[in-house]
Amino acid sequence: GLTLFDPARRNSRGYDLGEPGVPEALTAAIAKARQSNHIAAPIVGGVTQGGAAEPVRNPATGAVVGQVIEADRATVDAAVAAARKAQDDWSLAGGSFRADRLERAADLLEERDALFLGLAIDEAGKTLVDAVAEVREAVDFLRYYAAQARADFTYPVVLPGPTGERNELILEGKGVFVAISPWNFPLAIFLGQVSAALAAGNSVLAKPAEQTPLIAHAAVELLLEAGVPGDVLHYLPGRGETVGAALTGHDDIIGVAFTGSTEVARMINRSLAGRDGPIATLIAETGGANAMIVDSTALPEQVARDAVASAFQSAGQRCSALRLLCVQEDVADTMIAMVAGAMAELNVGDPAILSTDVGPIIDAEAQANIAAYVAEARAAGRVIAEAARTNLPADGHFVPPVLIRLDHVTDLKREIFGPVLHVATWKGGELDQLIDAINASGYGLTLGVHTRIDGVAAHIAARAQVGNVYVNRNQIGAIVGSQPFGGRGLSGTGPKAGGPHYLHRFAEEKSISTDI
Ligand code: NAD
Ligand code: ALA
Repeated sequence: GLTLFDPARRNSRGYDLGEPGVPEALTAAIAKARQSNHIAAPIVGGVTQGGAAEPVRNPATGAVVGQVIEADRATVDAAVAAARKAQDDWSLAGGSFRADRLERAADLLEERDALFLGLAIDEAGKTLVDAVAEVREAVDFLRYYAAQARADFTYPVVLPGPTGERNELILEGKGVFVAISPWNFPLAIFLGQVSAALAAGNSVLAKPAEQTPLIAHAAVELLLEAGVPGDVLHYLPGRGETVGAALTGHDDIIGVAFTGSTEVARMINRSLAGRDGPIATLIAETGGANAMIVDSTALPEQVARDAVASAFQSAGQRCSALRLLCVQEDVADTMIAMVAGAMAELNVGDPAILSTDVGPIIDAEAQANIAAYVAEARAAGRVIAEAARTNLPADGHFVPPVLIRLDHVTDLKREIFGPVLHVATWKGGELDQLIDAINASGYGLTLGVHTRIDGVAAHIAARAQVGNVYVNRNQIGAIVGSQPFGGRGLSGTGPKAGGPHYLHRFAEEKSISTDI
């Protein structure tokens, strides 16, 4: 059976934003907690490092939110050396010792959530709804991995053997782990990776995405305050091609937890393979070209609601997001009309405004790439619906949600990381061909299914080569402990964040046999 650790553990309650007064109270708390001069400088051995500062900008308005100082090569080397020295003691301290610190960090994060909500909105362009979910998920990861460290990393597992022999299995940290995270979950994924590696007994070199160093910096400060030793956890902001490459090419690291694009995962894989150090573990969680299969029995209102939420919440900047709506031919016109109608209701704009549904694209480069893709589709006459473009801040990076018609499901060749939904039709009687075509993309992250026939849902779920199947609901926002999240193939090496086996990927197993 599965690990049944701490059945009393509960996910964070978060906030009910539908309750009168709650959004306004949160907005006021966020305004109060906002810092005017946040500097995300490297932290090595618990000590803040210096260097040239560069501005970090709000993607919705262009306003300066804080400053970042990139870690240089000497700083990276010093962090690796300190982390290597400290790791044994951290691993030997045991799961309960580490869990105490992670749980303390979860409590602090809940106490100071306004600061983190504000940074998620200002630095990453999250709406309040997304920011609340982000902080909740981060708290949940901390508590979930802490509970598992307590259960699995504190006492040995006793295994059977002949009389006169004691057999034990213990879990230990592997060594120095590098955590490299994306900007789209700048707190939840950053802290999820870091806390998993720490919980399992590793020391950690944490490199946030270049777009979102501030919230990650605040998270590291919190972990250090909660009692994680400064030599065990180091914060190394900077660009992927400099700091990231220096870390993944370092001979003294034992593993990399990476979340980001498939392309960069491949680069890291090559970098790890080319080193002289130990054969390293790569835990990669990457992109998706996620489909939703809708058959003619599905409820149109539910499909429209779930497709629009899955494709456009977070401006489509979720690895789990719906990219390809596959609708059975005979109901396609109705479904498309309803999706288009729901898209027309979306408010695109500054996420600091409570009524905003769809915030900005993370930066100018990403915005230009998505806009060029949409322009090409428009020129080909394939854009069939678009959200309104009203009152957008002049210096922000926006792409209003768009619906693009494809001739065939195989026409979507890659992940478009933004609010772009494609739609293609399929013929009744050709469900298996459709599933094969979706599988053939090579990606395997999320799949949505809308049908009122249980057997059809079960058939699709069994044949789909993906990590997460969602039936008759949206396909985003996996819940820690309930929907272990992660994909396969081009979508990653198969870890399931927030699941019972995730921490084991960060650990070594040692068997001890004693003649007694
Ligand atoms: P990205 O791959 O561009 O960057 C991710 C991280 O890798 C950043 O910290 C970046 O600095 C670093 N990096 C870049 N080049 C590097 C190199 N040569 N060596 C080492 N590190 C390097 O991705 P992104 O734009 O930040 O995030 C969006 C991508 O992440 C999308 O493809 C999305 O699907 C994916 N994602 C996947 C999951 C998942 O759980 N499967 C979750 C969120 C995002
Ligand atoms: N875990 C995130 C989601 O499910 C990526 O949307």
